[in-house]
Formats: sequence, C-alpha cells, structure tokens
Amino acid sequence: MEKLSGKNILIVGATGGIGRETARILKPSGAHLFLMGRKSDELSALANELRIPIHHCFITDITEPAQVDAAATMIHAEAGALDVLINAAGVGIIKPMETLTHEDLMQSLNINLVGAFNLLKAFLPPMKERKKGLIINLPGVLGKTPMAGAAAYSASKYGLNGMLKSVREELKRTDIRITNIFLGGTDTPFWDTIDMRVQRDKFVSAEEAARAIWYLCQQPSSGVVSEMVLQPFNHQAI
Ligand SMILES: NC(=O)c1ccc[n+]([C@@H]2O[C@H](COP(=O)([O-])OP(=O)(O)OC[C@H]3O[C@@H](n4cnc5c(N)ncnc54)[C@H](OP(=O)(O)O)[C@@H]3O)[C@@H](O)[C@H]2O)c1
Repeated sequence: MEKLSGKNILIVGATGGIGRETARILKPSGAHLFLMGRKSDELSALANELRIPIHHCFITDITEPAQVDAAATMIHAEAGALDVLINAAGVGIIKPMETLTHEDLMQSLNINLVGAFNLLKAFLPPMKERKKGLIINLPGVLGKTPMAGAAAYSASKYGLNGMLKSVREELKRTDIRITNIFLGGTDTPFWDTIDMRVQRDKFVSAEEAARAIWYLCQQPSSGVVSEMVLQPFNHQAI
C-alpha cells in the first residue's frame, strides 16, 4: 500500500457529503490536503475543524475554467504536481423526460462532465511531467447502468466514464492512474432535492464511501484499481 503521509491531495467537492467525509478520513494520514468547493462558509468550517490552512481552501466553480486554472496555479506553486486529485463534485438532477428541461441537461453536463474536464486540463499536465499521479472520479452506478428518470444525470456520468477511459489510454506509458468509483445510493445531501421515494437508511453511508476512497488513495503501486463498485446491499444495480 502507498503511504499517504506528505502526499499532496486535492478534494474537489469538499463541502459535499462524500467529499467532507473523505477529508475527515484522510486528514489523520499526514497528507497535505487542499479543499475545493463553492460554499465558502462550509469550506471554512471544515478547514477549521481539520486545522487545514485557509490558503489550502479554494472557493471555485469547476464549470469556470479560469477559476479552476487560478486555483491550480496556486496549488502547483506551493506543492508542485498533485499526488492525488479526488473529484467528488457533482449534481444530481433526477427527473422523468416530461419534466426534464434543457437547462437541467446543460447543468448536469456542465458540472459532472465539463467540470471534470476542466480539472483534468488544469491538474494533469504537471502530473504528466512527473509521469506520476492518481485521479479519482465518482461516476456512480448511473454512469454504467441506466435507471428511469436519470437521462440527464446518466448522460453526464456515462460521458465522464467515457472521457476518463479515453484519457486512461493516453496515459498508458506513465504511472498516472485513473480510478473510477461507481457508488450506488449514498446517504448525502445529494438526495435532499431529488423527488423520488428512496430508503436512505439502507444507503451506503458517506463515511463508508469515504473509506473506500481512502483505500483507493493507497492502492498498491504495482497495479491500478481501475474501477471499484460499492452499492447498497439491497439495491445492487450492477
Ligand atoms: N450520493 C450518491 O448517492 C452518489 C452516488 C453515486 C455517485 N455520486 C457522486 O458523488 C459525487 C459527490 O456526491 P455527494 O453525494 O457528496 O453530493 P453532495 O453532498 O450534493 O455534494 C456535491 C458537491 O459538489 C460540489 N459542486 C457542485 N457543483 C459544483 C461546481 N459547479 N463547482 C464546484 N463544486 C461543485 C458541491 O459544492 P457546494 O456545496 O460548495 O456547492 C458539493 O461539495 C458526485 O459526483 C455524485 O454524482 C453520488
């Protein structure tokens, strides 16, 4: 297992259910954590709780390439290339086609797919120079298998999965790993605005999802965990 102490790790979506728990689980490892999100109050509260310097926190909208590039410039100036990029940012718009709007589709694609692209464009080049790094994304099981009402969300997450598979092909001559974790229903604020009957008490907990990411950060250097699937026991979609 790779040791995390001293590694430079960026958690994007650190203000979200999974991102926040991931920061909490990674902090004791001695890694240098950088946090990114949009809600400044929540980001500051997490930084205070974990004693992460405020200059390691970035209020960034990942759909805006200039904002992502500005954060990347500051992180690279201080830390050099990231060892691990964890993209736990995303939006869940789950609606049937009758009520799904063009705006819903564009928002899903912008955050879940274009945002991930902007992060790759900003953080991959220094990793390529070092020929080393780990990039973890969370396409979710709906990026691999369909569900009614998930047309926009699945379009964005299938797209993310496809983009990352293609990038993985480009990186085969390097030690840069691309790891995708396919989570099923996970109990986070993601579900607060989704109008669908779900049993959140049967979901994977945010802490268990974060523990899986913590494991992925330490994956053996002799191989790569290209995919991991973690889904509720009573609702195995894959
Ligand atoms: N929960 C599930 O059941 C589940 C299952 C499979 C996959 N996933 C995926 O896991 C990831 C994390 O989900 P979660 O459950 O932790 O959701 P969450 O609690 O709703 O958190 C979403 C995070 O994404 C950030 N975010 C959204 N739009 C952003 C933008 N434009 N720029 C920067 N950050 C942005 C949010 O930041 P702010 O709050 O600061 O705006 C927040 O930190 C998402 O990609 C989601 O699709 C979730």
